[in-house]
Amino acid sequence: MAEKTLEDIPGVGPAIAEKLREAGYTELMSIAVAAPATLAEACEIGDKKAQDIIEGAKLCCDIGGFETGDAILQRRAAVTKLTTGSKAFDELLGGGIESQAITELYGEFGSCKTQVCFQLAVNATLPEDQGGLDSDVIIIDTENTFRPERIVQMANSLGADPEATLRRIHVARAFNSQHQVLLVDKAMELSRDMKCRLMIVDSLTSHFRSEYLGRGALAERQQILNRHMHDLLNFATVNNAAIAVTNQVAAKPDAFFGDPMRPIGGTIVGHTSTFRVYLRKGKAGKRIARLVDSPNMPEGEAVFMVTEEGIKDE
Ligand code: GTP
Ligand code: MG
Repeated sequence: MAEKTLEDIPGVGPAIAEKLREAGYTELMSIAVAAPATLAEACEIGDKKAQDIIEGAKLCCDIGGFETGDAILQRRAAVTKLTTGSKAFDELLGGGIESQAITELYGEFGSCKTQVCFQLAVNATLPEDQGGLDSDVIIIDTENTFRPERIVQMANSLGADPEATLRRIHVARAFNSQHQVLLVDKAMELSRDMKCRLMIVDSLTSHFRSEYLGRGALAERQQILNRHMHDLLNFATVNNAAIAVTNQVAAKPDAFFGDPMRPIGGTIVGHTSTFRVYLRKGKAGKRIARLVDSPNMPEGEAVFMVTEEGIKDE
């Protein structure tokens, strides 16, 4: 079947197609999952027209319909796990971080969210029989914390070629939340020409948190974050990819007992993440991972170490 383009959407001619592309809607899928009001504003068209275009795009990429259980089973059978580098951490997650799902790592500064992401990136380039995905990796870096030197250390400790590893890791710095959202479309384009089974967004929420301040901005922030999460989930499904995102915590104002920290991003992030993992510091370089939410694994904790060589068992 020939691949469809924007011009295949009923009612979209060259002029509207150009507007869509200019606004960053280069993929049918990104249009199909767009919110009508957002699309209308971005392309300077009416709401009704935007709605029609979205419906047309849904038909073109065959979403919004029902799938039979056996088709879902077949897709689920392709799910693979990516090792974290620690056996204990892997076991907590049921074998590693899962493809076709979003795994959220949240915790305070220094809880090693970024270190775990680096290790996942290196591991993803490993062959499958070593717990990897034999794949390229996309990293959306919002805090400018990507450190190639750390990748080199981790690759060396696994006996992998550090330069070859770095060549498979594609990093984009996201300058603001809007750029971050667009980079997922860009990643989708990239993934057409290369095998990309891991995407990392570190951090998912920092730009949103600093740009949308106050109660009045909350609804809009959550709407965009929601779309962003669904774009990520879509990437995961289309590419059989694992998605790892990091999230900060904020103090609960009303916490009298239990852990006073909760992840930011509200229910949108919580509900769209398939696995939620809370990371915290232990003693002497130890880190504790707590599985807070998972569709099929019990809650529990695992202890791992962060060392010069990367994420290891204690
Ligand atoms: P924020 O992004 O600030 O919220 O923190 P984070 O959770 O991403 O923390 P990050 O992954 O940056 O963890 C930093 C911690 O990792 C440091 O405090 C160190 O304890 C540890 N770390 C980083 N590099 C090394 C290393 O080369 N050797 C060892 N032993 N530990 C390291
Ligand atoms: Mg970090």
